[in-house]
Amino acid sequence: QAFFKQIQQTAPPSPTKRHTKISVIGAGNVGMAIAQTILTQDLVDVLALVDAKPDKLRGEMLDLQHAAAFLPRTRILADTDYAVTAGSDLCIVTAGARQNPGESRLSLLQRNLALFRSIVPPLAKYSPDAILLIVSNPVDVLTYVAWKLSGFPPNRVIGSGTNLDSSRFRFLIADHLDVNAQDVQAYIVGEHGDSSVALWSSISVGGVPILSFLERQEIAYEKETLEKIHKEVVQSAYEVISLKGYTSWAIGYSVANLSRSILRDQRRIHPVSVLAKGFYGISGGDAFLSLPAQLGRSGVLGVTNVHLTEEEGQKLRDSAKTILEVQSELGI
Ligand code: NAI
Ligand code: 2OP
Repeated sequence: QAFFKQIQQTAPPSPTKRHTKISVIGAGNVGMAIAQTILTQDLVDVLALVDAKPDKLRGEMLDLQHAAAFLPRTRILADTDYAVTAGSDLCIVTAGARQNPGESRLSLLQRNLALFRSIVPPLAKYSPDAILLIVSNPVDVLTYVAWKLSGFPPNRVIGSGTNLDSSRFRFLIADHLDVNAQDVQAYIVGEHGDSSVALWSSISVGGVPILSFLERQEIAYEKETLEKIHKEVVQSAYEVISLKGYTSWAIGYSVANLSRSILRDQRRIHPVSVLAKGFYGISGGDAFLSLPAQLGRSGVLGVTNVHLTEEEGQKLRDSAKTILEVQSELGI
């Protein structure tokens, strides 16, 4: 008591700083990987967790709180009631069913659609100015669902999309060329899933376009090798799921990376799922799919005009068609 009294007498009143708050919905493998990555990166003042299972949720909250002595200071809250999310700047949705080994992301849709009807409206009610970042699968279609259910403008509804696939892609290219993945600029766009599109024509390594880099290094330009790398990206999640049952660490870092760009107004470009109608010749409906988008404090600031070859553009439009076909059966 005396200790605090002394400080209060001498210290000036605390500045009235607005707190930043992230809510993570779903405290499973993915939600907790995201939560712990956000905590280590000192991104927010308040982190709120919501899950349908109260014991698991409280256990996860306590376990994270017990790391307080080793982490930047963040208040960690958890509740099954969405009131705990009130006033969030960013709401990250990871709740829902995940794939069994061999199962596609799209097959999760009906199960996770029902959950979203109970998750998105209360989030929008308690944090009407928040940005929604959707992670649950199938992420592109569920981002569309979240946009519809929230009534938010499209710049404030984003899917984690192919930010993760692009990281896998960059890792595999870096491994192939024996360079640092952070020096590889490369995008996977389109559906986060089986119809994703690799943008080979715009890849650069240390600022050098990859195709001329390969030629200069006199490594034969093997289209087959490049296609094999993309196939490996598509197979990545299936492989990890068949080995450990789920994916978590890479999506944790991917979403923390997106959260930083948004909350710290970094204005960086990420391939994420956005309302794609009107870009790159995509038409026929309100498809959300990944395009290279600039992210900042108000969400999606714009879509970058990356050069696509005829073939890449067509594959992207085909990916949009796949998503729109699934969406047309939703009745939303
Ligand atoms: P998990 O089964 O470990 O966790 C899901 C959590 O959601 C559980 O704790 C469950 O209690 C909770 N939950 C279920 N219904 C709820 C509700 N109505 N309200 C609140 N919480 C509820 O699954 P995991 O591995 O965490 O995966 C979660 C989702 O993330 C899956 O749909 C998976 O496919 C997706 N995912 C997406 C990735 C991406 O790149 N977009 C990457 C990895 C996973
Ligand atoms: C992933 O790509 C399963 O969508 C999840 O890791």
